[in-house]
Amino acid sequence: MDDFTLLMDLHKQGHRQGPGGDAETELAINLAMIERTDPLKVADIGCGTGASTLVLARLLNAQITAVDFLQDFLDLLNERAESAGVADRISTLACSMDNLPFANEELDVIWSEGAVYNIGFEKGVAEWQRFLKPGGLLVTSEITWLTDSRPAELQKHWDSEYPEIDLASTKMRVLEKHGYSPIGYFVLPEHCW
Ligand SMILES: C[S@@+](CC[C@H](N)C(=O)[O-])C[C@H]1O[C@@H](n2cnc3c(N)ncnc32)[C@H](O)[C@@H]1O
Repeated sequence: MDDFTLLMDLHKQGHRQGPGGDAETELAINLAMIERTDPLKVADIGCGTGASTLVLARLLNAQITAVDFLQDFLDLLNERAESAGVADRISTLACSMDNLPFANEELDVIWSEGAVYNIGFEKGVAEWQRFLKPGGLLVTSEITWLTDSRPAELQKHWDSEYPEIDLASTKMRVLEKHGYSPIGYFVLPEHCW
């Protein structure tokens, strides 16, 4: 097994493949004030095996396109959706998040937990904006600093691993620069990390 296959194998057994929690997905639905009975078209980008997709399918009146570039994860998502009785609300799409096939103004909601960093936060939010209907919502999570200063060792590590890491306030400015009007954010509790 090569390193990538090993990594995938390790992660596909988990409920999630990144930081988050089902209660926090629901909290984000509430914070974004998404109307649960409205018929919605949603994309969950970088969905992994679908932890957030399943919560969205259960709580919203939505047709969800779950996007990931790993077909193995999408196969598991489809199995989980069948078991949860929400398969009719979810379709899967194996595709890279920087080459999405959605039309302009096609989506009510773009959801993306712990995934946009793969192409970089700014590139992702800039490219995805055109897929949203007027008044549409982007709900995303992103690694951020919680304070304005931190140990040099941590700074050095993340500057090399993900130079875009920054404060939430900076991410808000990036969103504004690309046409979004931020509603709010919350810090994922430590048990989600
Ligand atoms: C940290 S995991 C988060 C998965 C899921 N959102 C969750 O919270 O459990 C990041 C996901 O992004 C996917 N991914 C990475 N690069 C991608 C790309 N360029 N296009 C689509 N998916 C990608 C990975 O396969 C993985 O499932």
